[in-house]
Amino acid sequence: MGWIKVLDSARTLHESGVMEVNAGGKTIALVNVNGKICALDGICPHEGGPLAKGSIENGYLVCPWHGWEFDPLTGKDRYNPARGVTSFPVEVRGDEVYVEI
Ligand code: FES
Repeated sequence: MGWIKVLDSARTLHESGVMEVNAGGKTIALVNVNGKICALDGICPHEGGPLAKGSIENGYLVCPWHGWEFDPLTGKDRYNPARGVTSFPVEVRGDEVYVEI
């Protein structure tokens, strides 16, 4: 599908912030960890919880429903790397944020 602009200003997403955006019909959890913006599939693989409503704890994105934890860079589950969510490439161009779907 290609690169899709998801934010007009990267500054909208503060440090350790999590935000839900839509890119090409997909729900994406956009995360700022240590100043790096990451994009993960926004639907938790456990029972479909809304990952963009989660929080960043110890550098991991924590699902708000049952607490599964995902690495924002790779999407892998913290305790079981065999499972996880899709991570998407992110580019910040000027101040705008793009995700490749
Ligand atoms: S739905 Fe995410 S941990 Fe259960």
